[in-house]
Amino acid sequence: MPHFVLVPMLAAGHAGPMLDMARALASRGALVTFVTTPLNLLRLGRAPGDGELPIRFLPLRFPCTEAGLPEGCESADALPGIDFLRNFHDACAMLRAPLVAHLREAHPPASGLVSDTCHPWTGAVARELGVPRLGLETFCAFSSFCMRQMSIHSVFEGISDHKRPVRVPGFPIHVEMSRARSPENFSGFGKVFADEVMAENARADGLVVNSFAELEPLFVDAYEAALGKKIWAVGPLFLQRNMPLSATSGSDDATAVRCGSWLEQKKPRSAVLVSFGSLARSSQPQLVEIAHGLEASNRPFIWVVKPASLAEFERWLSDDGFERRVGDRGLVVTGWAPQKAILSHPATGAFVTHCGWNSVLECVAAGLPMTTWPHFGDQFMNEKLVVDVLRVGVPVGVKDATQWGVETEGVVATREDVERALEAVMDGGVVGAARQARAAELGRKAWDAVARGGSSDRNMSLLVDFVEQMKATV
Ligand SMILES: *[C@@H]1O[C@H](CO)[C@@H](O)[C@H](O)[C@H]1NC(C)=O
Ligand SMILES: *[C@@H]1O[C@H](CO)[C@@H](O)[C@H](O)[C@H]1NC(C)=O
Repeated sequence: MPHFVLVPMLAAGHAGPMLDMARALASRGALVTFVTTPLNLLRLGRAPGDGELPIRFLPLRFPCTEAGLPEGCESADALPGIDFLRNFHDACAMLRAPLVAHLREAHPPASGLVSDTCHPWTGAVARELGVPRLGLETFCAFSSFCMRQMSIHSVFEGISDHKRPVRVPGFPIHVEMSRARSPENFSGFGKVFADEVMAENARADGLVVNSFAELEPLFVDAYEAALGKKIWAVGPLFLQRNMPLSATSGSDDATAVRCGSWLEQKKPRSAVLVSFGSLARSSQPQLVEIAHGLEASNRPFIWVVKPASLAEFERWLSDDGFERRVGDRGLVVTGWAPQKAILSHPATGAFVTHCGWNSVLECVAAGLPMTTWPHFGDQFMNEKLVVDVLRVGVPVGVKDATQWGVETEGVVATREDVERALEAVMDGGVVGAARQARAAELGRKAWDAVARGGSSDRNMSLLVDFVEQMKATV
């Protein structure tokens, strides 16, 4: 059987899908080496049954000091500020020599590399070892392809107004994007890094997307045609082993228990989940607007809060009386919450999401409509897919992009925006019912894709065959 070496991007939202990829490959009998670092190894969530799978974890020392990072900064979400992102990528690239040294000694030898497309340096690793490299996109096909077109055509060159929308060239549908809302804005060195990633994607032996053929067929096909390489759509990766979503993460955790028993008391499809992912931090004035919107909506809610200042938020909570007024109707969680389990609970009716791809896919798999509230990165592109193409989303109407790590005082959506969007996504009359029906249908398609003989299941087998055949021809 083949030996796959998996190199995840060291960031909260990236390691999860790669670990799911490891499980999917290993449960097909492949040996997997999963590259990580000592601190990231501790954070990897383990699932029931992981112990029986042939996955070897390889923690490589992370060269913080050499790259000018504070000690212990082994993941992008642990960086003291956005200015350190370049150092962080430099540190990742320094893993090349130790990784190659390890893999030269590996038994059985590596058959192929699957690495996050954010690790362009892994192209050289594959070439040194003479094995194929497949890039795992953590964006969907729509946004990966959109990003590629913006990058290779340098669409923002010579445009000084960051808010001016520009048409994305060579894209299957009409899409406009401004620099402020594009992934280029995500980091101070956006274009340079994006170009490195594009160059290595063009040299890769193929790409893997955590999406499924039936979700975005037009964009998987168009991206494949433009790239001239195979693109395997193998998602949702978190469903690949057909485990119930409620069982996938730490169900004995105190917050999980609290959310679970709260949901048990609620009517079917009556509650909303509000959560903006692991990276974004919300300003205090923005949190106050969300709180008032939730209160006015009169619907049950679980609100997962990541405040720019936890102390300030907690002071506001105790002074304002918000929790007392909403009583048992609302649950405020600061920190981690079991998102997949909440979304798949029958009491949950909609998701107010930042549109990170993992969150969108989890909502799709749960068969629920969403209220879209993008912040940065691929999120504004994902919003277009969700709202305009899939038609399962209601935009809250975000007025401005936020920049990662820069917590503004600004309010991008008001309490009225929140209330209106919740009303539309949860009720919304005939239009809302049609949206809910489309979301439910997509949910069924997601499960069909990963079931035996489904498109993602077959794509995963084809991917394994491809790597084995490449090995045979070397
Ligand atoms: C990102 O967008 C904001 C808002 O338009 C802008 O102020 C900032 O300069 C942009 N950053 C980059 C790196 O382009
Ligand atoms: C993935 O599955 C789809 C649908 O079955 C198929 O058309 C496509 O060729 C497969 N992709 C690859 C790269 O083999």
